[in-house]
Parts: sequence; C-alpha cells; structure tokens
Amino acid sequence: MMLRLDFVTLFPEAIQAGLGFSILDRAATQGLASYHCVNPRDFTTDARRTVDDKPFGGSAGMLLMAEPVAQALESLPIAEDTAVVFPDPTGRRFVQADAENLAKRKHVVFVCGHYEGIDERIFETFGTHKFSLGDFVLTNGEFPAIIMADAIVRVVPGVLGSSDSLEQDSFGDGLLSSPQYTRPAEWRGKGVPEVLTSGDHERIRRWRRAESLRHTLATRPDLLASAQLSKEDLQLLKSFDDDLD
Ligand SMILES: C[S@@+](CC[C@H](N)C(=O)[O-])C[C@H]1O[C@@H](n2cnc3c(N)ncnc32)[C@H](O)[C@@H]1O
Repeated sequence: MMLRLDFVTLFPEAIQAGLGFSILDRAATQGLASYHCVNPRDFTTDARRTVDDKPFGGSAGMLLMAEPVAQALESLPIAEDTAVVFPDPTGRRFVQADAENLAKRKHVVFVCGHYEGIDERIFETFGTHKFSLGDFVLTNGEFPAIIMADAIVRVVPGVLGSSDSLEQDSFGDGLLSSPQYTRPAEWRGKGVPEVLTSGDHERIRRWRRAESLRHTLATRPDLLASAQLSKEDLQLLKSFDDDLD
C-alpha cells in the first residue's frame, strides 16, 4: 500500500530539502510513499499574492488567511479517512503511537503554519489532528511536518529492513532504549559493558532490559505508568529506587 503525504506550505523548497534524504527518500524510491506540496500563494488573486493579515483583536504579528489555505486544501483528494494534521504548539504532544496510527492511513496532509499561525477556522473546517512537538515555539510548521513525516514513514511496513529494529528502539516497548556501543571495544581508554561481548543472549537481554528500565526511571518516569512491566521489571525498578535512598 502506498502512503500519500501532502504538505500545504508556503515554502515547498523547505519540504523538498527534508524529503530528499534519509528514510523518506528511500520509501519513495521503494514505491511505499509519495509526497506532494501545494502552496496557498498559488490560490491568491491579488497582484501581491497576499496570504497573511493582521489578527483580529490586535496582537503582534500576522496570520495566514483562511481562503488561500482552504483552496490549497480543496485542491487535494481529501477522503473520509484522510488525516489533516496541523503542527501547532497548542496541540497535543506527538508521540510514537500517533506515528504508528497515521502510518496505517492512505493519505496524510500536513498544514504548515507560518508567522503567528493560521486562522483557526481552517482547523475547524478541515483539521483532524493538531500536534505539538514539544513545549517550545518554532518559526514554521515545515520542520515539525518533516519530523512527523519521518516518524510516520519509518514505521510503514517494508520501509525499514528489519522490524526488529523498530521493537528495540525507544518507545517500541513503551520504554527508552538501552545504551548501545560498536567497535572498537576499547576506545580512548573506555571499554564497553562486559556482558555485551559475552555472547550470552539471555544475559544480554536481561542487561538491556535493566538498562532500559534504569534509564526510563531516571529521565522519563512518566512512561513507566503505561509500559507493560513484568514482575522481574518491577523488582528491578524497586532495587534502583532503593539504590537512590
Ligand atoms: C511562530 S509559530 C506560531 C505560534 C503561535 N502564535 C502560538 O503562540 O502558539 C508558527 C508555526 O510554527 C509551527 N510550530 C511552532 N512551534 C511548534 C511546535 N512546538 N510544535 C509544532 N509546530 C510548531 C506551527 O505550524 C505554527 O503555526
């Protein structure tokens, strides 16, 4: 199945630059994803091709006007199950489960904001999802759209060589990944954890799980509430907590 991604953007060149490498480019070459940009500026009627105006109520900056964005969206083959995604700092935080859900659709449209954002009536009329990448403000919606596209396309079946790498990644099992090392085994006086070169797969599995739990407890304890934890996991977590006491 081919996933179609559309980008409503005033800066198609920013999107093209992001699409031209990495997994996004590979997925297109494999025929698993296709990408299209549509520019609201192409739907203006005045000589200056105006797309923005001052916000009602008088605040700083400019907003993208509804009509050119609406016409850009209406030029796309939007269907019942199309996801129309607005990158926006006021949205819900985008997480791995969202990437996995969107990867199951046939069509995802990103509406990239600029200036102070987009007239809210556009989201009310066309939007299905409003996602934030985090508690910070970017200058444009193109970067977050490319980041979300990368996360989505990466989990489309067949795009990555081995599905194992997806499960071992952070969030694959609801936890952060354990640290990883590659050759040389000794680098600038630093070795690698002995267990990783032991060849004992069960010990390696247990070490990775323990490190994953330790790391998650230290930096993202919020993830533990929804992760599937075994009795052994809970014992390990308790021992880490006891160590801290
Ligand atoms: C300068 S921002 C607008 C900020 C908006 N006035 C506010 O205060 O919430 C311009 C555009 O960048 C994008 N953007 C900025 N920060 C973002 C974030 N944390 N997550 C996702 N998109 C973001 C959105 O598309 C937004 O419309």
